[in-house]
Amino acid sequence: MADHPKKVELTPGIGHFYSWPLVLVTCADGQGKPNIITIAASAACSATPPTIGVAVAPARYSHGLIAASEEFGVNIPRKADLERADLCGSISGREEDKFARAGFTPLAGLVISVPVIAECPVNLECRLVHTAHLGSHDWFIGEVVSARADESVVVGDGRVDPVEVDGVFSWWGQYCSPGTPLDRWGFSQDSE
Ligand SMILES: Cc1cc2nc3c(=O)[nH]c(=O)nc-3n(C[C@H](O)[C@H](O)[C@H](O)COP(=O)(O)O)c2cc1C
Repeated sequence: MADHPKKVELTPGIGHFYSWPLVLVTCADGQGKPNIITIAASAACSATPPTIGVAVAPARYSHGLIAASEEFGVNIPRKADLERADLCGSISGREEDKFARAGFTPLAGLVISVPVIAECPVNLECRLVHTAHLGSHDWFIGEVVSARADESVVVGDGRVDPVEVDGVFSWWGQYCSPGTPLDRWGFSQDSE
């Protein structure tokens, strides 16, 4: 039998798992005033129809906005915008206009009434389809009803090139760079 690395038992928690891209979720109040919340807990939920989930604690100002409007934007920031992304996760839209403070530009949604962030290379517009009340955080699951990306990050067949996006993920409270791409899905079958 092969030798395996020795394992250490950990306290069950979500910190072991975080690895989706850090996203900036946009939302807006009833008067159309937009807000941004930094979210580490996001996930692709279903491919068809395309749905994305974001975990938002009920205490966040953004929580009430998303619950009321049933729309949100999911924007992937570049590593170069990490400080601005951190700022949007450190102050509340209850007190400050985060678009103004972070120097981000609201770009009108194509389908939803909530703007996306012009400086982020990937912008997804979501309509809320399900809310899962799980405890400290609610998962807002939205159907992606419109998607845009900077021309510079899109490769031939409409795929987004992760190297060009140069996003960020977080793990154990630490910002990490996704690093070197390895191989593509299915590469193990190349020589079959
Ligand atoms: C890197 C980072 C990741 C975060 N991830 C989440 C998250 O997944 N869910 C959440 O509810 N809050 C998360 N937060 C906290 C909110 O972004 C923060 O409380 C924010 O100020 C709330 O803004 P709002 O009151 O305008 O909604 C994160 C903060 C940072 C800095």
